[in-house]
Amino acid sequence: VTHKSFGVGFVGCGYVADFYGATLPNHSQLSLVGAADVDADRAASFAARYGGRTFATLDELLACPNVDIVVNLTPPSEHNRINHQVVSAGRHLYSEKPLAMTASEANDLVVAAEAIGVALGAAPCSILGEAATTLAMSVSRGDIGSPRLVYAELDNGSLPLLGSRGWYSARGIPWPTDHEIRTGCTLEHSPYYVTWLVTLFGPVVEMQCSTASLMLDLWDDEEGVLAPDFSVGVLRMASGVVVRITTGWVAPSDLSLTIVGTEGVLRVDEAWSYRSAVTLRRVQQPRGKDHAYLADPCRVPLEPTPWAATSGYDDTHEMDMCRGIAELAQHIRTGCKLTVPPSVHAHITDVCLRLAQGVSGEVPAPESSTVKEPHT
Ligand SMILES: NC(=O)c1ccc[n+]([C@@H]2O[C@H](COP(=O)([O-])OP(=O)(O)OC[C@H]3O[C@@H](n4cnc5c(N)ncnc54)[C@H](O)[C@@H]3O)[C@@H](O)[C@H]2O)c1
Repeated sequence: VTHKSFGVGFVGCGYVADFYGATLPNHSQLSLVGAADVDADRAASFAARYGGRTFATLDELLACPNVDIVVNLTPPSEHNRINHQVVSAGRHLYSEKPLAMTASEANDLVVAAEAIGVALGAAPCSILGEAATTLAMSVSRGDIGSPRLVYAELDNGSLPLLGSRGWYSARGIPWPTDHEIRTGCTLEHSPYYVTWLVTLFGPVVEMQCSTASLMLDLWDDEEGVLAPDFSVGVLRMASGVVVRITTGWVAPSDLSLTIVGTEGVLRVDEAWSYRSAVTLRRVQQPRGKDHAYLADPCRVPLEPTPWAATSGYDDTHEMDMCRGIAELAQHIRTGCKLTVPPSVHAHITDVCLRLAQGVSGEVPAPESSTVKEPHT
């Protein structure tokens, strides 16, 4: 069967572009047209390694008729401007997170994309992984009864002690430590689990949050421009589930998710492994004084997904970064529903910005009726 191949153009060819370049071949319907970067050497090394041509500017890339979907891999501060430029040119957009640096900019982008009639997708796409799929199936099957409480952990170790200035991607691009510590761990990492939570339990209705700067003195931060390195939020979801989400570059690595229900407890070990173990502990008759009301953990067999199981990039995490682009292409071709519709991406951006800034209060609902019915 032949099906339309989608031309993909990348803007931004830095550290994360190697995750994308290596996993694009997992998706035969996506063909690499080329890449642009303000640093021409980076665009050139990307094309040399992964194929396609280089474009001197984003305008040149947008003028190429073979480019159907533009993937924005520039730093967060550039996202909003570039995202608008892409949709204004009538190209479908897949953006790295966050969509924008303010909630109103994210909403404006969603409105603009809809008005122009282009599709909009955004990272992270780990919701399409086997672990997230298995978790969602287990919850909706009722394996843990009615979910009530979630602990979402996104602790990544003490970054100033981790030697991040010595981290390089496959092409030898340095991990952008200075950008990352200005943007902050919460904006960089909370979208991974916020996306899962909103997909499982509906939008965030209300949240209480707090941030702290606990190890910033270990960096040279004389200008005081670094973002807090710890945040915690308590989120009330539309379904009534309550979430405690912690994000940090201080405590030792823990990327687990635990969902507590009336009949059991589900756990995913590792947010950044698509094939992470998912375990279930069912409620049992308590055994005397040891309070063993939970059975021993048993593995929930991973559900297959429609996507290739291969990853192709395992330098750091086992993630197929291009699944979200593949789903966007399928959506464009068939009109199938996106797992995360654009208005929900704007909502996720809003929630993550609030977590990063420690803003408590009610959270406006996503502006569209396309939000999936939450599990109750
Ligand atoms: N670094 C990671 O581990 C990682 C993982 C997942 C997602 N991300 C996300 O990916 C995005 C990019 O991160 P990165 O780590 O690759 O950063 P990076 O700084 O290594 O790369 C960004 C690239 O964009 C280019 N660029 C900057 N402004 C531009 C412009 N106006 N036009 C064209 N090119 C421009 C830069 O020259 C650079 O090569 C961010 O949104 C980040 O949140 C990063």
